[in-house]
Amino acid sequence: MEDPARLAALETLRAVRQRDAYANLVLPQMLRDRRITGRDAALATKLTYGSARAQGLLDAVIEACSDRPLSEVDGSALDALRLGTYQLLRTRIPSHAAVASTVDLVRAELGSGIAGFVNAVLRRVAEQDEAAWVDELAPDPDTDPVGNLAFTHAHPRWIAQAFAEALGSRGEPLKLALEADDARPAVHLVARPGEVSADELAAIVGGDVAPYSPYGVHLETGAGDPGDLEPVRERLANVQDEGSQLCALALTRASLEGTDDRWLDLCAGPGGKAALLAALVGLEGGELIAVEKAPHRAELVRKLTSGLPVTVEVTDGRETGFVEGAFDRVLVDAPCTGLGALRRRPEARWRRQPADVGQLTTLQRELLTEALRLVRPGGVVAYVVCSPHLSETVGVVADVARRTGAEQLDTRTLFPEVPDLGDGPHVQLWPHLHGTDAMFCAVLRRPV
Ligand SMILES: C[S@@+](CC[C@H](N)C(=O)[O-])C[C@H]1O[C@@H](n2cnc3c(N)ncnc32)[C@H](O)[C@@H]1O
Repeated sequence: MEDPARLAALETLRAVRQRDAYANLVLPQMLRDRRITGRDAALATKLTYGSARAQGLLDAVIEACSDRPLSEVDGSALDALRLGTYQLLRTRIPSHAAVASTVDLVRAELGSGIAGFVNAVLRRVAEQDEAAWVDELAPDPDTDPVGNLAFTHAHPRWIAQAFAEALGSRGEPLKLALEADDARPAVHLVARPGEVSADELAAIVGGDVAPYSPYGVHLETGAGDPGDLEPVRERLANVQDEGSQLCALALTRASLEGTDDRWLDLCAGPGGKAALLAALVGLEGGELIAVEKAPHRAELVRKLTSGLPVTVEVTDGRETGFVEGAFDRVLVDAPCTGLGALRRRPEARWRRQPADVGQLTTLQRELLTEALRLVRPGGVVAYVVCSPHLSETVGVVADVARRTGAEQLDTRTLFPEVPDLGDGPHVQLWPHLHGTDAMFCAVLRRPV
């Protein structure tokens, strides 16, 4: 029986496993190439992203139902088992249909022997629902609350632990954070300042004005490809998480005495924040220099900021050659683990490793130190990462502030619309509290 949706899901999961592909790039292209639309496209999307997100939980259940360890299961069979188990545990697809459709795919691709094994495992999986499997397999909530919540909400333990440390909680706030991180996020747009207001943009695209960012609009989940929207094609708007908008705005909102017309974005690619900053500095007759190390990402910055007062420099932000003190405001939107945007990249949580953190914090410290050299005395630097991991956030900022003597501003005052910002002085946004990615922002002033 033809089953284009499940076949596309299976092939995407295989590309993710075999060649480290990104599901949210592979699948849309596959759907276009195969002209899969409507309900089939929706089903393929749900099954692919759902299976990729829940991988750790699914694997634990599959292993419990298998007569061999997962390391001995053929990779393609494992993809199919994940797809089948996801349907059984996390969708309303009837069990017999979930099992039969998966086994059919495996038989066609891998033969009857492996199909028999997949059939046997899925039948065992189908014996109980997700809650019962979690009860049976998750660590004890009394002795290991973080492990229990990590398992229940399908996150690697080290990531749940990092969230717990940033939240200062192993209880309800952690549960809510992991739950929100497991949900599919709404797409946010940013209206280009000086071109269109958030109200006008919301009316044009049929979205809602965002609660906090004066330029933000929220689209309904599953509203189609936002790149197809006319205001986006016409460069009146970009796709940008509301948290990113707020962090870029925080840099512009810090008070400044003296000149204020040369701004720098030290890590600009692909250009979302650069476009917002450039539109704002442009309204005052100023300019933005956008630095990006990777040439292909610098090209994206050029595209996204065309028509704005931006000069793009392809260079390492630690060795730009700019003279000391040349800028009034500097953004360091540093490369990071991305643990704050896991909900946007289905497989990312299983790909990231704890060892990534150490390498990144070294680079983050170097970039922030250089930003504080390039900003003029009295000027301001915003340090932003899309991660709540304390090593990448307060760890980097405290270390660099101590070594450079920079003053940390109460960044919460630069997010005046936003509630629940904690004790400061930095700002940590969260999906469960603010509906944004878990962005971190600290604004520092170079001493005069
Ligand atoms: C978090 S992203 C920036 C996102 C961007 N500000 C936006 O809003 O679209 C970090 C960027 O820094 C770039 N990068 C990494 N190392 C760098 C370095 N040493 N100097 C400058 N850019 C670097 C990466 O290629 C990546 O494009």
